[in-house]
Amino acid sequence: MQKQQQCAWFLRFPSLQRVLLLLVASLLLQGADSTQKATEDLAETVADTAEQNLNDKIKVFTVATEPTDGYARYLRSARVYDIEVVTLGMGEEWKGGDMSRAGGGFKINLLREAIKPFIDSPDTIILFSDSYDVIITATLDEIVEKFKESGAKLLFSAEKYCWPDSSLTDQYPEVEGKASRFLNSGAFIGYAPQVNALLEEPISDTQDDQLYYTKVFLDEAKRAKLGMKLDTESRLFQNLHGAKDDVKLNVDLDTNQGTLQNINFMTTPSIVHGNGLSKIDLNAYGNYLAKTFNGVCTYCLEYQLEVDEKKLPIISLAVIVPQAVPFFDLCLAGIEKINYPKDHLHLFIYSAAELHDGQVKSYIHKYGEQYVSAKIVISEDQLDERRGRQLALEQAKRHNSDYIFFVDGDAIIDEAEVLRELLKLNKRFIAPLFSRYSELWSNFWGALSDGGYYARSHDYVDIVKRDILGMWNVPHVTSIYLIKHDAFDAINFEHSQFDPDMAMCDSLRKAGIFMYVGNQDYFGHLVNLDNFNSTVVRPDFHTLFTNRFDWTKKYIHSNFSAQLNKSFVIPQPCPDVFWFQIVTDAFCDDLVAIMEAHGGWSDGSNSDKRLEGGYEAVPTRDIHMKQVGLDELYLKFLQLFVRPLQERVFEGYYHNPPRSLMNFMVRYRPDEQPSLRPHHDSSTYTINIALNHVGIDYEGGGCRFLRYNCSVTETKKGWMLMHPGRLTHFHEGLLVTNGTRYIMISFIDP
Ligand SMILES: *[C@@H]1O[C@H](CO)[C@@H](O)[C@H](O)[C@H]1NC(C)=O
Ligand SMILES: *[C@@H]1O[C@H](CO)[C@@H](O)[C@H](O)[C@H]1NC(C)=O
Ligand SMILES: *[C@@H]1O[C@H](CO)[C@@H](O)[C@H](O)[C@H]1NC(C)=O
Ligand SMILES: *[C@@H]1O[C@H](CO)[C@@H](O)[C@H](O)[C@H]1NC(C)=O
Ligand SMILES: *[C@@H]1O[C@H](CO)[C@@H](O)[C@H](O)[C@H]1NC(C)=O
Repeated sequence: MQKQQQCAWFLRFPSLQRVLLLLVASLLLQGADSTQKATEDLAETVADTAEQNLNDKIKVFTVATEPTDGYARYLRSARVYDIEVVTLGMGEEWKGGDMSRAGGGFKINLLREAIKPFIDSPDTIILFSDSYDVIITATLDEIVEKFKESGAKLLFSAEKYCWPDSSLTDQYPEVEGKASRFLNSGAFIGYAPQVNALLEEPISDTQDDQLYYTKVFLDEAKRAKLGMKLDTESRLFQNLHGAKDDVKLNVDLDTNQGTLQNINFMTTPSIVHGNGLSKIDLNAYGNYLAKTFNGVCTYCLEYQLEVDEKKLPIISLAVIVPQAVPFFDLCLAGIEKINYPKDHLHLFIYSAAELHDGQVKSYIHKYGEQYVSAKIVISEDQLDERRGRQLALEQAKRHNSDYIFFVDGDAIIDEAEVLRELLKLNKRFIAPLFSRYSELWSNFWGALSDGGYYARSHDYVDIVKRDILGMWNVPHVTSIYLIKHDAFDAINFEHSQFDPDMAMCDSLRKAGIFMYVGNQDYFGHLVNLDNFNSTVVRPDFHTLFTNRFDWTKKYIHSNFSAQLNKSFVIPQPCPDVFWFQIVTDAFCDDLVAIMEAHGGWSDGSNSDKRLEGGYEAVPTRDIHMKQVGLDELYLKFLQLFVRPLQERVFEGYYHNPPRSLMNFMVRYRPDEQPSLRPHHDSSTYTINIALNHVGIDYEGGGCRFLRYNCSVTETKKGWMLMHPGRLTHFHEGLLVTNGTRYIMISFIDP
């Protein structure tokens, strides 16, 4: 009784009703944090719509008991086409039973009450549809025109399956070709008196609404009396379940606006319903329907929220490292880089990789106290990934965090504003696009295979390459994402077959929480875990081929590129001996550590089994790159980083890739081999990289070029000497008087 009065009261004041509905809608869309902005928008929207002759004869109803993301999407689509909607049941407990089986009588009972004011008005048209899985793609004018063209007084959407009682199949009128034969209750339109007559039989809240309507339809007398038809050719309504091959999304190349076409009948349905198992398809189409794009991503702009510096949300930052990853130091540096006050962050680090235990501990030691709270779980705690993620979430709940920001070990944040920008996008679940450098591997899937695994969507490549910019509702996201507190309870990492990532996405899909990935801004990238062997000494050093970008960042001198500029003067400590800044301290330290761990230093005698002739005229104490499995990598290093420098100083000499049979580290020390007698190299040019500090790590040492009576003794760690090999640059290794000197030598183009 109460409910009926409310509806009647509502409907007697159409403008007030409009205001309230729009207010509710706006608030839902904007999130409660931005009431101010919502109210301003509202004023604008009301002003817009007041001029238009809206909904006077057409009443649009839907049912929603909760403001789900699907409901927000439905309301937005209505708003885009200036359609006023009356939502029935909002805030009420859902009484329609389990919709995946049957139920929905609740919807009928709500609608029956709601249309009472119109039932004597033969001109009033009632349009009803579900909302969680429905998108409107046309104006009311177009919808009504299609309805009138159908000749029906009551037109239902049609689908390919006879549901929920397939035994009724034969009672349905036959249809031709690829038409849809069976009634679907998700959307219909009709004149008020006919709709009223349709709803005349009682139904309990938990009984099946589709069966209820089906029975009316299959009663030939009633069907005729009501002028009831099915939209078998999807002129007005498109149900997507089982119709994947019937529809095609056309996306305009200039504007990125989409239209969904039924290619069997060349119709453009105005109301699209992701019934049954087709919700993921609807989500994918929905990324382009209802003017989400118009050249730019209009949809992205609509929801934006300014981050209020005085009321910054409390965020749980969860760093999850289920396995050893390359460049974890860069991952932690990315975390440290995030521009957000640590007194608003709770830090949680889960790492199952022994390799990273030390790094995690030292990060916490250094920065832990700055966070509101900091907790770590490391390999010795023996917690599996599922429980690690679960614990992160439990901590976020316990701290009453407004959000949890998951960052996995394979995600490297390059831009400090990442968190603030994600907050602005104002979604329950939002991820920035992260992908591997110059690869199509990314942190989202655009589609799912039947088994729930990866499938490529039509737009996947465009999104990853940033050929289109926007925000997409996708079925699977990993590696880095921000989740709002009202989605926490929906997350479930448990699953008998899926890994924790897939389990989480599965649970969010089932809860109707949309996972958005945005690619408008670049915030960082993923490292490549392929073939990463964490048991070798200094594993990052081995990954040049799989992670060239991060390898370069970690190991190549920050001034490297500047030296390629023709106006940069390359120092020449001796005639035709050029001096370059080429590698970082990390390069030097890692390479020395690799060699020392290997330990197979040659004995310094003339007999050398590693060489073809077995004889070395000018022997050193050394280890070849081949011996540590790094020769191929080093040749790549020569090609990528040494050759361009060579081309700057020895003009006209182009050999790409450079060849080198001998790449080796030399160790000089007083008690072993402290110096090297004068010699020529069998190379076109030689490079010599200093791997440690003179005056700190050793005393003495250096290289003397006899022809010029010129020595380079103040060598610098990470700097490279380059000189001609064979004729002019007769040279010797000067005496090391204390400590150990390491250099890295290559004889290039022998
Ligand atoms: C990883 O490195 C270790 C130590 O060098 C080696 O024994 C092992 O075979 C490597 N594993 C793979 C998969 O290459
Ligand atoms: C790079 O070069 C500039 C100027 O040549 C110098 O001041 C700076 O210290 C160099 N950077 C590093 C990391 O050595
Ligand atoms: C090369 O260096 C000059 C002088 O420092 C600078 O003006 C110019 O922009 C640089 N060129 C490039 C391509 O970086
Ligand atoms: C070589 O240089 C050193 C100092 O740099 C000088 O003392 C010496 O006399 C020079 N020798 C010749 C042969 O020029
Ligand atoms: C060698 O270096 C060590 C450490 O720097 C120092 O203690 C020692 O006195 C040095 N020895 C000589 C002979 O200079």
